Amino acid sequence: MNLILMGAPGAGKGTQSEKISEKWGIPAISTGEILRAAIKEGTALGREAKTYIDDGKLVPDETVIGIVKEYLASSVCQNGFILDGFPRSIPQAEALDTLGVKIDAVLSIEVADETIVERMSGRRVCACGASYHLLFNPSKVEGICDKCGAKTTVRADDAPETVTKRLATYHEQTEPLKAYYAKKGLLLEVKGQDEITETTRLVFDALGSISL
Ligand code: AP5
Repeated sequence: MNLILMGAPGAGKGTQSEKISEKWGIPAISTGEILRAAIKEGTALGREAKTYIDDGKLVPDETVIGIVKEYLASSVCQNGFILDGFPRSIPQAEALDTLGVKIDAVLSIEVADETIVERMSGRRVCACGASYHLLFNPSKVEGICDKCGAKTTVRADDAPETVTKRLATYHEQTEPLKAYYAKKGLLLEVKGQDEITETTRLVFDALGSISL
């Protein structure tokens, strides 16, 4: 299955892509995670990306398209993939089309802006990649990662003023992709629920309905 996962910041893309990845045995490629790793390593890509991410804006299309191209050409994606957070603009979607990659479905997780703002304030992350929520997905010991035992932190771009900017960027540049993919008959919409497990059930139902 070649899948695109869409949704506003904090809609639950990362959470659900982990579940889909486990069930279907395909890798999740998260452009956000790749960019954060580059920031942590202090590479030229990371330094470029940081200025945009800290300001709630999209990293330039050419940069992100270049990253995704490399992943899609690698053996990692041979048996299917989940693109988590790519494409995020019409030029990115057009670039993907140009690569001739067959997409089976575009799944959009729908969550209201008010819920997003509330969710982001409770997210805690670990340097190992694990993600938690103080209320909805707490670690066993508050502030400590279940997977590696390190201290969890608040993601830099989860500050309320940055979340507001990220939401505006989403509505302006990414949401138009829903119409783009609906026209191609690929769009599946799932209403994000308060319970993570309930959202997973709806996501699995929606993906179970596509013919590969
Ligand atoms: P990215 O990392 O992709 O951030 P995002 O799209 O803003 O999404 P998030 O990772 O914040 O949230 P999510 O939807 O994965 O939700 P999660 O599962 O964590 O990108 C970061 C930045 O990189 C962008 O702003 C941009 O600058 C840049 N970038 C990335 N890709 C780019 C591209 N293609 N082009 C240009 N720039 C790009 O869930 C959130 C929280 O809610 C968690 O705490 C979770 O536990 C909780 N939760 C999840 N589901 C539920 C539920 N159903 N009920 C209750 N709680 C829930």
